[in-house]
Amino acid sequence: MKLQNISPVFVLAVAITTSLAVEVKVESSIYKAIEDTGKANIFVSFKKNDIHNIRNQITVQTHVTRGDRINSLQEALKSHADTTQAGVLKAINSYRPLQANPTVKISSFWITNQVYIRHVDRELLEQLSTLDDISEITQEQVYTIDNPLGDSTEVRNSSAEPKWGVAAIRAPEVWASGNTGSGVVVATIDTGVRGTHEALRGGFRKEYGWFDPIEATLEPTDDNGHGTHATGTIVGRTNGIGVAPGAQWIACKGCDYKGQCYQSDIIDCAQFVVCPTDANGSFNCSLAPHIVSNSWSSSNENYVNDGIISMFETAEIAVIFAIGNSGPRCRTVSSPGTHPYVISVGAVDSNTAVADYSSRGPSSINVSPQPDVAAPGSNILSALFSGDTIYGEKSGTSMATPHVAGLVALLKSQNMSLTVSEIRRLIKAGAQPIKGSAEPCGGIENKNYPNNAVGYGMVDAPKTIAGSASLNAQVLLKHHEFVAFSLLIFGSLKFLSF
Ligand SMILES: *[C@@H]1O[C@H](CO)[C@@H](O)[C@H](O)[C@H]1NC(C)=O
Ligand SMILES: *[C@@H]1O[C@H](CO)[C@@H](O)[C@H](O)[C@H]1NC(C)=O
Ligand SMILES: *[C@@H]1O[C@H](CO)[C@@H](O)[C@H](O)[C@H]1NC(C)=O
Ligand SMILES: *[C@@H]1O[C@H](CO)[C@@H](O)[C@H](O)[C@H]1NC(C)=O
Repeated sequence: MKLQNISPVFVLAVAITTSLAVEVKVESSIYKAIEDTGKANIFVSFKKNDIHNIRNQITVQTHVTRGDRINSLQEALKSHADTTQAGVLKAINSYRPLQANPTVKISSFWITNQVYIRHVDRELLEQLSTLDDISEITQEQVYTIDNPLGDSTEVRNSSAEPKWGVAAIRAPEVWASGNTGSGVVVATIDTGVRGTHEALRGGFRKEYGWFDPIEATLEPTDDNGHGTHATGTIVGRTNGIGVAPGAQWIACKGCDYKGQCYQSDIIDCAQFVVCPTDANGSFNCSLAPHIVSNSWSSSNENYVNDGIISMFETAEIAVIFAIGNSGPRCRTVSSPGTHPYVISVGAVDSNTAVADYSSRGPSSINVSPQPDVAAPGSNILSALFSGDTIYGEKSGTSMATPHVAGLVALLKSQNMSLTVSEIRRLIKAGAQPIKGSAEPCGGIENKNYPNNAVGYGMVDAPKTIAGSASLNAQVLLKHHEFVAFSLLIFGSLKFLSF
């Protein structure tokens, strides 16, 4: 091609594309924050990003144990992060005003291949936005935990009787068969845990069992109470508060005393969950938990946490999330609950009717009705952080979520070979219709399941466990999801035969 044949428009287009290619995308809210307060908390993402390929490779490789698989995953991600982030980390570390400021924090994350800077100023932001390696700079998000009905008064209840939520999902009938969740480890990413509480101290897995990116405490502790309460519902061993009293817990403090969960702490916690660390920072990915229970959410749906959810998936860790407390309006579901890999949980009250506050679907991201299931969430008695023998009631989808995490622990204990996708399917298949009705959302009447108020219904322990026993007897194929799926497949093959 001769030069004079190139149209000026084409030349201009090339020039613009080239200049855009070196331009770093900076989220506009960052400039606003710096204008208002002189600083902002930012995440730096990189142009070279092989995370997707690394995940795919690990997924197709065969590994002797799950621990081997997670170790390979961590090694590949860490080495990828080290190479891609080196230049940017060097630039940040040589920026003197940053070193002089004690409130600044810099973290390099392998799990999402991002660098985090707390309290960046305008000058450093401008320097970063000229660096070639960077694809975009985004502002840190803050998530919340929520207790819409407030706390009840403290009680010291010495009764061992299963509490209403534990009884409503019929966990005691599974215990009667000898299964209380032993052999299973559940992690929480929450406000921490009062590790000395009588309901919890016996179930703590001390080895690589605690991480606190906020206060760097060395032993489990909780300065809000939300995490202690949630963990009590999963594994609490006293007063009938726990669904899986034979399971063990580990915990990461990703949320502060105000119940605010900064994205950087959440990502730090996600790394801990995939590869648990000890107080000296050494880690052992073979000690990853089987389940991670999360009762924090963003008030809207976004993709910000897809990176960590995908890594939980690759590590074969079942992920449970509260759907949020923004009901009863439709389209109030929050993320990451609506991520397809997650089991999202709405709340029912003690009449097993959907709780008003429980967020409703449909989702703007996931075509399946949301939440996936519901569980008891109102007036749940569990451990409080104010004393080792103190209990009290809280309400919210935060309290429903740990009932499901406990049930997944029972299910896993029943058969340690179950995969996460089997677990997801069994939990939904075992769910039961609830009482009462609510305004339909997304055009689905609430007498139909799954719907956008409680998904497949309220979880049920014996039905879920029974489902696992007949996994190979194809009972699951009766499930609507499968019927719908089969119809789709058969339909598109122009009818085979049933
Ligand atoms: C403990 O709580 C249960 C219901 O959760 C109640 O039936 C029982 O009376 C309480 N026991 C005491 C000693 O307060
Ligand atoms: C951390 O390192 C110190 C000093 O080497 C050692 O005494 C301590 O036992 C280690 N702690 C853990 C949890 O490994
Ligand atoms: C990691 O934990 C596994 C399982 O407990 C254990 O077999 C292995 O020796 C540990 N590895 C290291 C390096 O401590
Ligand atoms: C346990 O789960 C695995 C994986 O789905 C399955 O192959 C196996 O048959 C199950 N075992 C029992 C006893 O149900």
